[in-house]
Amino acid sequence: MFIKSMAGGLFLALLATGSVWAAECNLPAAAQAGKMVSNQCKACHALEADKPSRPTAPNIHDVFGEKAVTRKDFPKYSEAMNMAAGKGLVWNETNIFEYLADPKAFLTKINGSDLKNAMFFQLKDEQKRKDMVAFLKAIKGKPECN
Ligand code: HEC
Repeated sequence: MFIKSMAGGLFLALLATGSVWAAECNLPAAAQAGKMVSNQCKACHALEADKPSRPTAPNIHDVFGEKAVTRKDFPKYSEAMNMAAGKGLVWNETNIFEYLADPKAFLTKINGSDLKNAMFFQLKDEQKRKDMVAFLKAIKGKPECN
């Protein structure tokens, strides 16, 4: 009986700290649509908070609001991206939206010269880009969402 209630107390304590069940991911509607779009990114990027970067691309779960080139486990950032980071590029709504449409053109504009870049992917559809940005913003700092 004593053991049983001890176990019950421990269970409640764990429940209170949220360590028994992982938190549910609640996303706003726009971000939900972005989750669908993110399947395209997964061809190259890891999007789970706790996963390392893949050899193909940096993990972008928490990229929103960060400086460019922050993933130490991705050693292959391009010359163009490194230069843009040196110029102080911090990822926000506006510049992710623009980057996704044409990574090379975006980095050329920032750097003032056409250097080698490494993301060979373009997302032209404006709505999809908006949704994708909303998704990245919504999952920032939320490991339960990916
Ligand atoms: C074909 C592979 C590929 C696909 C698909 C792709 N990316 Fe990338 N992405 C890369 C690579 C490689 C880099 C590093 C670019 C560089 O160094 O020039 C990158 C870089 C980025 C960065 C900057 C990361 C940082 O650490 O500064 C963001 C943001 C990003 N991608 C978002 C996306 C999103 C959002 C999608 C899907 C809509 C996507 N990418 C699809 C390969 C890809």
